[in-house]
Amino acid sequence: MEAAYGWDRDPELAAWNGRAPVSVSLSAARRDYLARWEDPSVKTFIIEADDEPVGMATLYDFRKDGCELGIKIGSKDLRGRGYASEAVNLLVDYVFDDLGLNVVRGSTLAHNHRMQRVFEKCGFKEIGDGSIISRYDNRRYTELFYERRRED
Ligand SMILES: CC(C)(COP(=O)(O)OP(=O)(O)OC[C@H]1O[C@@H](n2cnc3c(N)ncnc32)[C@H](O)[C@@H]1OP(=O)(O)O)[C@@H](O)C(=O)NCCC(=O)NCCS
Repeated sequence: MEAAYGWDRDPELAAWNGRAPVSVSLSAARRDYLARWEDPSVKTFIIEADDEPVGMATLYDFRKDGCELGIKIGSKDLRGRGYASEAVNLLVDYVFDDLGLNVVRGSTLAHNHRMQRVFEKCGFKEIGDGSIISRYDNRRYTELFYERRRED
């Protein structure tokens, strides 16, 4: 929980996710995390390497025979080592084989080339784009939408 709180307070990670960094205390954040953990409509996974938490992945917005996937690797030093690609591949298998769904959706900012590369490496296809106002800086950005279908 401390690791998740540290990531949620990090302005750089918040910017990549188009939201404001968390400003509440650890105890208030803890209540939110525990509520989310109990919420059956969101599945949260901690990514570990060498028994240490290195990132988080979430499956949410379950609808139309599929769900949305979000992911982050917390520390800059640990990015680019293949952790996200491995986690996304495992989660895609979990969504198809264990949950019995047929599509995993994802989106990322148009300037997030690293996340686009992860989607591509994991067999996702770009299916469109849109415009969003980031809650990080209230600026408008282009967002790219991806999906991976079971049959692809
Ligand atoms: C995006 C993120 C989840 C990717 O995780 P990761 O563990 O670093 O990803 P991987 O190491 O599995 O793969 C990254 C790929 O991007 C490539 N890459 C790195 N920097 C890049 C750049 N500037 N442009 C294009 N590709 C880049 C890497 O070379 C690698 O591809 P390769 O295996 O073909 O060499 C991670 O960097 C992160 O948490 N970033 C900050 C938060 C974020 O952006 N979250 C996603 C919000 S939608």
